[in-house]
Amino acid sequence: MMAETIHVMHSEEEVAKRIEELGKQISEDYKGRQVHLICVLKGGVFFMCELAKRISVPVSMDFMSVSSYGGGTSSSGVVKIAKDLDEPLEGKDVLVVEDIIDSGRTLSYLLEILFKRHPNSMRLCTLLDKPDRRVREVKVDYTGFEIEDKFVVGYGLDYAQKYRNLPYIGVVEGVE
Ligand code: IMP
Ligand code: MG
Repeated sequence: MMAETIHVMHSEEEVAKRIEELGKQISEDYKGRQVHLICVLKGGVFFMCELAKRISVPVSMDFMSVSSYGGGTSSSGVVKIAKDLDEPLEGKDVLVVEDIIDSGRTLSYLLEILFKRHPNSMRLCTLLDKPDRRVREVKVDYTGFEIEDKFVVGYGLDYAQKYRNLPYIGVVEGVE
């Protein structure tokens, strides 16, 4: 088995502090309303659970899983819904929760699909954003950390399905 070295980019404490701040901000912005969190599996699940705990307005949650066609290291932007949401979005104040926005292809396609389901409102919250990599424009409403163009793991993010469980955000050495 190959040993990979991982350097800490954002520590567990830093991530926890930032999620608490995001939760406060979201709670203020959604005052008097219920927020419907949508988790994009699998990467978004750690972030969404932590974020949900820091939101003080009523929260409901749903999950979906998408895979993008094309393979390779970059996403094609054509998204296949592998697991759809359980609940309709009509009339709901939807907050899509993502682990990372890279080229923006997956998200812009996904948001288009969800928008057709007539939510009352729809916003986007991402733990990480790599703005330098953007190919498709995506309006991000809440960002945990903007990062440079490095391949990161942990807090839901994987490298070949590994490292999702790391409680911090790290950079894998030797991976571009
Ligand atoms: P894109 O924005 O359509 O290019 O694709 C974003 C998806 O690619 C994310 O949801 C992740 O699954 C994956 N991804 C992008 N950058 C990274 C990274 O640095 N580490 C792990 N996964 C990544
Ligand atoms: Mg993802």
